[in-house]
Amino acid sequence: MLNKLVWRKSDKQNRNLQERISDMTGEIVPKHIAIIMDGNGRWAKKRAMPRVAGHHEGMKNVRKITRAANRIGVQALTLYAFSTENWKRPKLEVEFLMRLPEEFLTSFLPELMELNIRIAMIGEMDSLPEHTQNAVKKAMKETEKNTGMVLNFALNYGSRSEIVSAVQQLVQKAQDGELTVEDITEDSISTHLMTSELPEPDLLIRTSGEIRLSNFMLWQLAYTEFWFTDTLWPDFDEHSLLDAVNDYQKRNRRYGGLKGE
Ligand code: FPP
Repeated sequence: MLNKLVWRKSDKQNRNLQERISDMTGEIVPKHIAIIMDGNGRWAKKRAMPRVAGHHEGMKNVRKITRAANRIGVQALTLYAFSTENWKRPKLEVEFLMRLPEEFLTSFLPELMELNIRIAMIGEMDSLPEHTQNAVKKAMKETEKNTGMVLNFALNYGSRSEIVSAVQQLVQKAQDGELTVEDITEDSISTHLMTSELPEPDLLIRTSGEIRLSNFMLWQLAYTEFWFTDTLWPDFDEHSLLDAVNDYQKRNRRYGGLKGE
């Protein structure tokens, strides 16, 4: 009896989700969604579980949201998985977080291939533990020919140092006579960022009630629509994603111009 009730409830929820996704046909879907996945620790604390249990649940949620984003036709999904500041966390927590890409990418790879999803990464690869680097590099290599959605992990990522690095590369080129000072433009800075192959995010989502950017894609978010929710990342489900996208569709993006232009 209980089973039947549970089955009925999830069946109803699934149909509802399917209907919501179908309703999106013909609507503008953000090409690139970036998410600051926050609240894993609080999710665990509420359940008297260790913080790492929250991160593990958060990792499982990455699958769910990846599938949903892919289903609605998002072209790129960037997930902030580890910032350059996160090294300050307790050693055991950092070690646990560094194991997650391996677990995720190994178990999810067959489905990523089936869904034609390509893995990408922004952040300082070289200072990641070797096992993390190997897992990410292997997934990038195996999915490199996939032509569908890009699932881009920001791992050991910091936006200010990314901008500094872009400027340094340009100044070096100017010193070497490859370009002039006038060649240093918004476009040339953009093409020297780690995100050069991606469109700028249309929608930024941050979970868990925090309203700040935490050194995430500061340059790329200049004209992005922001969407904040109190929901903790492990609880942020497909319906939450659709809520964010539905709100985005009601926004009037003017890029500094006037309505209707
Ligand atoms: C912030 O929550 C979250 C992180 C620093 C880690 C996010 C990582 C994942 C969701 C999993 C990544 C998965 C893959 C596949 C790489 P918090 O710990 O700061 O939460 P709190 O503010 O409640 O303490």
